[in-house]
Amino acid sequence: MCGIVAYLGSKDAYPILINGLYKLEYRGYDSAGVAILDKELSVYKTKGKVSKLDQFVEDKNTGGSIGIAHTRWATHGEPNTENAHPHYSMNKKIAIIHNGIIENYATLKEELKGRGYTFNSETDTEVLANLIEDVMHNESCSLQEAVLIALNQVVGAYALVVISEGEPDSLIAARKGSPMVIGIGGDDDFFIASDATPIIEYTKNVVYMNDEEIAILKKGEPLKIKTIANKDKTPYVQELEFNLNALEKGGFEHFMLKEIYEQPTSIRDSLRGRLRAKEGVVSLGGIVDYEQKIVHANKIIMIACGTSWHACLVGEYLFEDLARIPVEVEYASEFRYRNPIITENDVVIAVSQSGETADTLAAIELAKEKGATVLGVCNVVGSSISRATHAGSYTHAGPEIGVASTKAFTAQVTVLTMMALRMAQLKGTIPTSRFMQLLHEMEAIPDKVEAVLNDDGVAKQIAEKYQQATNFLYLGRGYNFPVALEGALKLKEISYIHAEGYPAAEMKHGPIALIDKDMPVVFIATNNVIYEKVVSNIQEVKARNGNVIAIVTQGDKVVRGLADYVIEIPATEDMFVPLLASIPLQKLAYYIAVMRGCNVDQPRNLAKSVTVE
Ligand code: G6P
Repeated sequence: MCGIVAYLGSKDAYPILINGLYKLEYRGYDSAGVAILDKELSVYKTKGKVSKLDQFVEDKNTGGSIGIAHTRWATHGEPNTENAHPHYSMNKKIAIIHNGIIENYATLKEELKGRGYTFNSETDTEVLANLIEDVMHNESCSLQEAVLIALNQVVGAYALVVISEGEPDSLIAARKGSPMVIGIGGDDDFFIASDATPIIEYTKNVVYMNDEEIAILKKGEPLKIKTIANKDKTPYVQELEFNLNALEKGGFEHFMLKEIYEQPTSIRDSLRGRLRAKEGVVSLGGIVDYEQKIVHANKIIMIACGTSWHACLVGEYLFEDLARIPVEVEYASEFRYRNPIITENDVVIAVSQSGETADTLAAIELAKEKGATVLGVCNVVGSSISRATHAGSYTHAGPEIGVASTKAFTAQVTVLTMMALRMAQLKGTIPTSRFMQLLHEMEAIPDKVEAVLNDDGVAKQIAEKYQQATNFLYLGRGYNFPVALEGALKLKEISYIHAEGYPAAEMKHGPIALIDKDMPVVFIATNNVIYEKVVSNIQEVKARNGNVIAIVTQGDKVVRGLADYVIEIPATEDMFVPLLASIPLQKLAYYIAVMRGCNVDQPRNLAKSVTVE
């Protein structure tokens, strides 16, 4: 993954670079580094978080108005100082930052070693630095030409920026498969970053780089873009829509908590202009031209990773239940390698918060090759997935910074719900009166989410009680099964407690063996047609001295009589329960993680956007 930032202009580069790295730390935080050009090219780097780098350079010369910086999520080579970016080339005249993977680095490294190059790190990136130096040396060419020639020898993915002492007024950047955006400020200022968050405070004018493009940034000259086949392209400048407030904690202790509390707004924003209950309208502008394709699809295949995959599972239930269209849900990483059966009559829906997940992108390419129509549900506007798909609908959750996804999940479920409702309307699979009833209830969901958020006491008490548990089980059936999976994922991601989500009725085929007096079992036991069955499962757990925490519908008496703790949520349609029930589970995971002293926003080993396989 990794985050990259670069600056070229009239200001001091260091403060811009370091602040940018802090904003991109969600992409990885194994090590950080910066290279600044001020007569000489200086590289400073440290193992650990960006704050360590900031302390480390306190007594160093960080003056200069051109520089590059990087925060790393380790792929090749352990997270130590040597493997941190930027990497010098052997003569220390060139430095490079890179997000991605150079797949043929071993072959290139051997060739370069044969030509006398030595290496200080185990990374694929240092190979690229030396390759560029080698090309400049052999061809006596400019940095820009050398990067172009070098990239034509490289197999893999990259978002990279190169700086050279010999060309103190330029930066060369390139992208293939990893995200990169360039900000164009006044006063000939250029900013480069993995996403727009480090740029927004300086300028709203940005250019999203496309795959296989190289950007040439030179002081006093307009931005130039070329393809790696050396064809000129006209930069397409867009205006960013979000503002700086969206990127700050706004009084909350962590981004995750802020994002949990933003859900009434993010769901409202995702519904806005698309669902108008009184008029009986649900319409997603981005996919209008593809509605007939979906309605007549042989099947829908939903592909995603992580939390987004859980949103797809809810989507599967919704599309089948409401619109009677068969749905398969696939992990993108499995789908891409298993020769799936897809035809031109299938519709693939790729769901991704970041819009950059490498496995999801590869799965999209495969589906397109096989002729399927591919639609996206992404949160990040202009992201790679939103551009790789034929069409799609954005979730309007706003920037999500906490590594564990919360508001993006409920926004994804909201968008998938609207899609399913629209398909049901077009296919006539539910009576109009029922359709209208569902639209009205959906419109009421943000208020109900607000009510769930206002009721805080129990989640904290439960967290106090079970913060030292070593295992948790989450159980639910029907629409509540994906909620159980997502609840378990949240807990393990941020508190490092082992947690498993299971269909409640499957408990008897395995997990029941785990239950003893130390095992907390979280049931999502809301009122629905299988409520009684879930009550039986609760009794089975109690009979084995397990501890039951239950999410129930307001006013529930039966489960309240059985469970150790209950959290009530307002009554709603069964299909909308995931939007309410997932919220106390997010909070429970959050409080437990905080009580255990874990870094909630940046859990160990994880990254927000996984742009590697
Ligand atoms: C990472 C993140 C998860 C996310 C998953 C898929 O693992 O830590 O929170 O659900 O990637 O990401 P996407 O951006 O495609 O939704």
